[in-house]
This record gives sequence, structure tokens and C-alpha cells, in this order.
Amino acid sequence: MKIQPVRGTHDLYNQNLIKYNHVLKIVNRLAKVYCFDEIITPIFETTELFRKPLGKFSDVVLKEMYTFEDRNNSSLTLRPEYTTPMIRSAISNNLLEKIPQKLYGIGPMFRRERPQKGRFRQFNQINFEILGTNDIAADLELILLGDDILKSIFPDKKIDLIINSLGDQSTLKKFKEDLKIFFNKYKKDLSEESKNKIETNPLRILDSKDKDDIKINFNAPKIHDYYSKEANKKFDEIKGLLQEYSINYEINPNLVRGLDYYCHTVFEFKSKDLGSQDTLIGGGRYDGLIKLLGGPDMPGVGWAGGIDRIIMLMENIVLSEKKIHLVLMNEKIKSYGLKLLDLLRKNNIYAYLDYKYNLKKSLSNASKEKSKYAIIIGEDEFKNNTCTIKNLNNNTQQNISIDNIVNFLKE
Ligand code: HAM
Repeated sequence: MKIQPVRGTHDLYNQNLIKYNHVLKIVNRLAKVYCFDEIITPIFETTELFRKPLGKFSDVVLKEMYTFEDRNNSSLTLRPEYTTPMIRSAISNNLLEKIPQKLYGIGPMFRRERPQKGRFRQFNQINFEILGTNDIAADLELILLGDDILKSIFPDKKIDLIINSLGDQSTLKKFKEDLKIFFNKYKKDLSEESKNKIETNPLRILDSKDKDDIKINFNAPKIHDYYSKEANKKFDEIKGLLQEYSINYEINPNLVRGLDYYCHTVFEFKSKDLGSQDTLIGGGRYDGLIKLLGGPDMPGVGWAGGIDRIIMLMENIVLSEKKIHLVLMNEKIKSYGLKLLDLLRKNNIYAYLDYKYNLKKSLSNASKEKSKYAIIIGEDEFKNNTCTIKNLNNNTQQNISIDNIVNFLKE
């Protein structure tokens, strides 16, 4: 049997890798425009770092972490998400002496979930966090940034922004108690998975995808009935700002997110073209998390986006790397061809040689590679110190002197 990647993991190559790099280019550019500083942390951390903040009854902690014993018996975990490691790093390196800290990170995360379309065990995230401010302007900035990134990648696609507020700690405490009472009344009709969550994580029943659970959820207590005055004010503020910026949104009172650390604003950007794993970006506010991790008592807000899902949604987009395909018609002109290749590369032009020395085969390769131009050299071109340049998009061609080739291609 052919050797395969580990279940739930996948390789990125050809078009998907070009798309991955395209997404990163947009993310890095907009991160600079919004003045976020990049941070790179190790891919494993102590297990303790994740257990409490993500919630000891959250799916991630209960069944999805890749945890292993190190040789000195300490327990380590491959990071399942980036928010906690980024905050850990901000604390370890005294970055919180200057606030607000606006940080972003890009890299692989690991969760042992059941693999399906859009759900992997190793996946790549982009992650933006603003640490140290209560200002709702930070929530807005982050939503605008997510919107800008997605619109730059998908100018013509409809992507929905869903928001909710989880209120403050007192809102959540009372709400969870009432949810437990409510779901206990319908226990026998709930899915097995939701039954197990009544006592430990009743919030998550609200975003169950099971048909019977959805019917029951329809009549479940609604979080907005539990907001404090302050929570109501914050939520109105963010809604008002989104309207002012003409960002369309939908409120879903059952949007609760999967990790335990959230409060106040939570949001997701979703696409209906993705199937059941339809969230591209998810995030929200986490006001108690920095303190829980041993840092100062300061608020934070952020989001993470799944690069693999973004790439999946780019399925109808073909990106070309503006490669020039050099077509040498026979081996006798190899040395002439290599000098030309060198000249192009020294001028920062992407130039490719396929070692075929055959017009038909090389041109066919060039169109498979989605090259825009082929430079063809045969005996005549060699003798006259010229080359034939063929535009592979419209199939026109012209003969030009080698001395003019760089200027021609740069234009
Ligand atoms: P999350 O909702 O768990 O949030 O993940 C964020 C995004 O990562 C998802 O919307 C999805 O695009 C992608 N993602 C998650 N799991 C998988 C998977 N198994 N396969 C492929 N893509 C996946 C967080 O991770 C929070 N740390 C976000 C955050 C940052 N909240 C505040 N700051």
C-alpha cells in the first residue's frame, strides 16, 4: 500500500501551497496596516497551560489534546490553539508592561478531532489578539480586520458575520444554572453527546448540530434575558459601531463558542459554501484569562482563522506565480539557455527549465504550470541572439533581442 500521511493531516503543495502563501501575504500586509506585532511561540507547552483556561470539560481538553510525557515525567501538549500560548509568551517576556499589546501569530495547531471535510488533526491558524484594553473599539478593530482579510481574499463571496454577547461572569453563572434545569427536563430527548454535557458544559448543547437538540434549543433560556446593565451597554455599543461601519451582521443567541474563556462579545465569520465545518474565523473577548494564566488582571479580545478552510473556499480561484517557462528546442543550445536563465533570475524574474529540450512537451508543461509566458529558443534564435516570447494566455508571440528581454518582461 502507498505510504500515506497520518489520518487527519495533509500536505500542502502546488496550487494549495500557492494559495496558502497568498493568504499569508494578505494577512501579513494587513497585520502591518493595523499595527500588530508578530510573535512565534513553540508548538508545545506544558499541559497545565491549556487545561484550566480552555475548560476542563471542554471537548478540546477532554478528548482532543495531543498530550505526552516528556523524559523527566513532565506532561507536555501540542498546542490546540494559539490564544493561551500567546498570552503565556506575553507574560513570560514582560510584554504586558506596555499595553495595549496587539499581537498576531501564524502556525500549526493540533486537535485529535474526528477528521472530516474542513476538520483536520493538524491545521493552520492565523491568530490576532489585543491584550490590556476594555475598549469596545478593540472588538470592532478586530472584526474589521477579519472582514478586510476575508474581503481581500474573496472579493465576490458572501461571508456571514454572526455575533452574540455572553455577558459578564454573573450573567454566565446564572445562565448556566438555568440551562441545566431546562435541559434536565428534556434529558430523555437530547442526543447522547448533549446528555453528557448537561452538568459539565450546558452552554455547548446550544450549538449542537443534532436535529432533536436543535428543536429543544429553540425553547431554551436566552442569554439576553440574563445580561447585566453593563453587559447590555457593551453589546449595544458594538452593534452600533458595526452599523456605523456598514458591516452586516446577524445575532445568534445560541453562539457560545467552544472554549471556556469567553465573555461579552463573541463572533464568527461563516460561509454557506463550506459544508458543516463552515466557520472561517472565530473569536471574542476573554476578560479573566490573562489573570488565570498568572498575569495581571487585564482584559483581552481576539480571533483565530483556519487557513485550511480558507484555502478550501478558494477552490475556484487559480493563482499563477508569474513563472517564465524557458523552452529550449534542443540540447545544443543548453549553455546559451542557461546563461539566459541566469540573467532572468538575477533580475528577479521567476524562470523555470524542465530539461525536456522538446518544443511540444515543454509548451504543454508550461500551460500545466499556469505560466504566463514561454521563452522559446531554437537554432535561429541562437544564431541571431534573439528569443521568441509566447504569451500563453492569448497565444500571441513575437521575436525580440536578448538585450531587451529583461525590460520587456518587467513591463
Ligand atoms: P476556534 O473556534 O477553536 O477558536 O478555532 C478558530 C478557527 O480555527 C475555526 O473557526 C476554524 O476555521 C479553525 N479550526 C479549528 N479547528 C479546526 C480543525 N480541526 N481543522 C481545521 N480548522 C480548524 C480558537 O482557536 C480561539 N483560540 C480563537 C480566539 C482567539 N479567541 C480569542 N482569540
